[in-house]
Amino acid sequence: MIGKLNHVAIAVANLDEAVKTYSQSLGAKVSPPQDLPEHGVRVVFVELPNSKIELLSPLGAESPITAFLAKNPVGGMHHICYEVDNIATAITKLQADGVRILGDGKPKIGAHGKPVIFMHPKDMGGVLIELEEV
Ligand code: CO
Repeated sequence: MIGKLNHVAIAVANLDEAVKTYSQSLGAKVSPPQDLPEHGVRVVFVELPNSKIELLSPLGAESPITAFLAKNPVGGMHHICYEVDNIATAITKLQADGVRILGDGKPKIGAHGKPVIFMHPKDMGGVLIELEEV
């Protein structure tokens, strides 16, 4: 069912410093910062030849990244995202298999304008997993 690794998301304590590290020290191509108020994040996309890295920083008081950084003050890996062809089919299959979907169980529009869901880390080996319909 799952396809390519779409991205790995890293929560960062200082977005400017992270951008500098990826663009200058690692020589990566990085996007301008983009605000996604619906997700409570400011994100910078790092383009790799075979995938993407998303640098996430908090946006607004309700940001899930604020809570993450409270537990992980220097930042850390936040989630990974796999591609799926059909997110409705994926949800049906996962729920039938007892995997919990976060939130109301319905897809939201993600950072790339496509439907996404997040699966409960406790059902996924302790890793927050996002599925994105491509
Ligand atoms: Co993501």
